[in-house]
Amino acid sequence: MSSNNFAGKIGAILATAGSAVGLGNVWRFPTETGTHGGAAFLLIYIGFMLLLAAPIMIAELAIGRHGQRDVLYAFKKMNGGRGHWAFMGYLPVVAGILVLSYYAVVAGWTLEYAFRALTNDFFNKTQATFQQDFTTFIADPLRPLFWIFLILALTFGIVALGIQRGIERGAKIMMPILFIFLIVLVVCSLSLPNASRGITFLLNPDFSKVTPHTILSAMGQSFFTLSVGICCLCTYACYFRKDVNLFKDGLTVAIIDTAVAIMSGLVIFPAVYSVPGLTADAGPALVFITLPNVFQYVFGNMPVVAYCASLIFYMLLVMAALTSSISMLEMSSAFFHKEKGMSRPMAALVMSIICMILSIACSLSFGIWNEITILGLGFFDLFDTVVAKILMPIGGFLICIYLGWSVKGDVVFNEVTNNHTLHQPLYPVFMFVIRYFAPTCIFLIFLSGLGILKI
Ligand code: PHE
Repeated sequence: MSSNNFAGKIGAILATAGSAVGLGNVWRFPTETGTHGGAAFLLIYIGFMLLLAAPIMIAELAIGRHGQRDVLYAFKKMNGGRGHWAFMGYLPVVAGILVLSYYAVVAGWTLEYAFRALTNDFFNKTQATFQQDFTTFIADPLRPLFWIFLILALTFGIVALGIQRGIERGAKIMMPILFIFLIVLVVCSLSLPNASRGITFLLNPDFSKVTPHTILSAMGQSFFTLSVGICCLCTYACYFRKDVNLFKDGLTVAIIDTAVAIMSGLVIFPAVYSVPGLTADAGPALVFITLPNVFQYVFGNMPVVAYCASLIFYMLLVMAALTSSISMLEMSSAFFHKEKGMSRPMAALVMSIICMILSIACSLSFGIWNEITILGLGFFDLFDTVVAKILMPIGGFLICIYLGWSVKGDVVFNEVTNNHTLHQPLYPVFMFVIRYFAPTCIFLIFLSGLGILKI
């Protein structure tokens, strides 16, 4: 099997799951769930995963796997070059650079916190000190840049090694460790005295807290967490073998991703409720301020356990971030490698340098550049908004229109049934979602996200 493809089916699933499972699950999901009232948010989010994000994911997989080269070529090939769809080939280039540039900032924070955990920096500190430490750190003009550089260097190293030796092997090593770490932490967290309050918060819905904003956020989260809409999965699917079952693998990844998000909730909320005075709605700081405090408080009389729990938790975050950042770098590098004839390491290097420069701006927007705003947003928030609120919905919409209306039905059917060798009973539902349901939903979210439609 050529080294341009993932060697095995498991490798393909793990790499795709690696892209999906990331800070979106372990950091963004608890934050969003915490601020939107818990279980009700979780249920709506699961609904969107099933009805929207997972079908679009399968659509991306079908387009990419059909093309077998890169996104630009895939979009030209699948509909026989009709219309002017080749522009979709540039989406992963732009989106990949933008998303990695701000993702690397938070990924860098996770490295700093893994380092702090390793050097036992959390020992005996109080909530106020954790708060102070975090705000000082993210505003620092230099220290976060060092960690961003490191995360980008690691990401570059893996992507430069290639599909099988880099991306696939990286996912095969990191994903199982990630699961083991997560299970250890869930067990620890569930054994805490007030665990049941956290479980109730996560699993017992209170629909009175649901507002239109909750619905929009749940939808945004489902896109972000599955890496859907900006042709990231389409890029990976170009490397899928022709015998991969796209429905089965896509749904497996969606289930793994949701399971990891729920498990992260089961680590974080029982822990948060075990410390008096802490609340689940701490926002983005939950993971960097509240949690180190929780570890110290609940395991205060067992310093070794506190040390191990914090170290395992931040290592988990680092690995989750890395398996996703790899896919982001691959999105843009693949274009220059496959379309422009650059060598893989060269393409990855150029993209990493561009991301490093943009990341500096994103990181400084928490400190000395916080006054600089475009449309009222600092660089970090601007990039996040452009990717999650603009490029992902527009990309998702276009993917649906392309596959649902521009590609011939039998081409789609052949692709998802591996030329009639697989039975796909969900195919009619899938096509209905892709043609009608998803584009309508996304259109409405997009308008309300931009404030044009008021709900
Ligand atoms: N899905 C990733 C996460 O949950 C984020 C991501 C977005 C990765 C877009 C690739 C592309 O962290």
